[in-house]
Amino acid sequence: MSSPALANPSISQTNKAMDKKKIHIKTYGCQMNFYDSSRMAELMKPLGYELSEKPDDADMVVLNTCHIREKASEKMYSDLGRIKRAKQKLGKNGKRMLVAVAGCVAQAEGEEITRRAPYVDIVVGPQTFQRLPDLVAKSLRDHAIKGGGEKIHELDFAVEEKFDKLAIQPPEGATQAFLTIQEGCDKFCTFCVVPYTRGGEYSRPVNDVLAEARTMAAGGVVEVTLLGQNVNAYHGMAGGGEWNLAKLCHALAEIPGITRIRYTTSHPRDMDDALIQAHADLPQLMPYLHLPVQSGSDRILAAMNRKHTAKHYLNIIEKLRKARPDIALSTDIIVGFPGETDEDFEATMQLVRKVGYAQSYSFKYSIRPGTPAASVEEQVPEEVKDARLQALQALLNQQLIDFNQSMVGQRMEILIEKPGKHAGQMVGRSPYLQSVHVDDCDLKPGQLAEVIVTGTTHFGLRAVLAETMPNPLSQEDTHLGHA
Ligand code: SAH
Ligand code: SF4
Ligand code: F3S
Repeated sequence: MSSPALANPSISQTNKAMDKKKIHIKTYGCQMNFYDSSRMAELMKPLGYELSEKPDDADMVVLNTCHIREKASEKMYSDLGRIKRAKQKLGKNGKRMLVAVAGCVAQAEGEEITRRAPYVDIVVGPQTFQRLPDLVAKSLRDHAIKGGGEKIHELDFAVEEKFDKLAIQPPEGATQAFLTIQEGCDKFCTFCVVPYTRGGEYSRPVNDVLAEARTMAAGGVVEVTLLGQNVNAYHGMAGGGEWNLAKLCHALAEIPGITRIRYTTSHPRDMDDALIQAHADLPQLMPYLHLPVQSGSDRILAAMNRKHTAKHYLNIIEKLRKARPDIALSTDIIVGFPGETDEDFEATMQLVRKVGYAQSYSFKYSIRPGTPAASVEEQVPEEVKDARLQALQALLNQQLIDFNQSMVGQRMEILIEKPGKHAGQMVGRSPYLQSVHVDDCDLKPGQLAEVIVTGTTHFGLRAVLAETMPNPLSQEDTHLGHA
């Protein structure tokens, strides 16, 4: 697919025959934003923009922002202050830095960004960044003609156009890649900005997803992570019928070269039996699932509009473990949601104890303007939130340590990703997303390796190649790694 910018002759004129330019893209927030940032880099390449690590002397800086919690938004404004100084410095040397704010803060705050940071040239939303080449060309043209450059806001929800216009390119040398299959959310949890910043639920057509996966596999990608704000609400169309995520996973598993499939983030409401069964049927589906619960209290879950109870959630976990006994789980939890009592919090702790998570993300409730929970009067005091978060994280951290420790002595297949810090060392990824350090390893990124776990690191595992370990079974009694 050709870039929209290349089809427009005025753009190439403005661009002075493709001078090499530097673009710095900083990404905040979720994997979806990281996926979008890669697409932005691809879109800008035909205009001569090469990625640059630093913003200081860049011709263009893009901040791809996150609005999920107040801290995430504030971080963007403090970074913008630094960008302003870099822009001013370059300006003194007669060079113009184009500054664009993209992503969820752009969508949520639009005009406010221009008011607080008038040196921002372009504000573009998560469903309109495909127009970035045209917007850049317009800004450069305006500047050349008028010397000023109008502020550009592009914030409609054009999700279909977005995916149509994105060029699919195999990532260079990557062994694992993200693939967005679904965007937006119709769930309207009362704490969350996503339905407002990303718009309603949209599933990409099946054939587009499969084509992108085939391109990735041809480029050497072994592990594909399907992305969506509610990825298991996926309902793409193909052959006159609707496909759910389970069916899509079956089709992806047939693509030669793709040996590992993951998907994130799932909502408990959409965890249907077909998808649970796919975990039993497809060895390619990794035995690791991120299934956010948010709270263990039914009262709070109802106030959050999660539309599931703690029992419903625990039932799903039970079914998943029946289908795939080695499945490990991760979650997101919010503490201090308006009205949360000590009892509600204890119900969350109970649920965590029952499930036993391998990994987790926990947050203090953050008031998001415009969401229903923001106007509830019984907000939980900050110090109570702090204490609850501390107690919860102590429990979750212990579960993480226990989970990693339980791997010691196990044999597993890892995907080699990159060289480690030490000579001869390679780092791979376990089925449970742990990073695994392997010494004396002559394997290359993209290769799968059988290893035996010998110990744990701060966040991951240490292992040796299985074939270099003589007769591993006879060593089981000695508890490898404890010695
Ligand atoms: N779609 C996913 C998660 C999206 S946001 C889901 O439904 O689970 C990622 C996580 O941020 C959420 O799971 C939630 O735990 C957290 N989060 C969202 N809004 C928040 C808020 N206002 N305060 C604190 N945490 C929040
Ligand atoms: Fe936000 Fe809830 Fe939608 Fe997840 S399901 S994106 S938490 S509104
Ligand atoms: Fe943040 Fe938007 Fe993702 S608010 S978490 S970047 S969908």
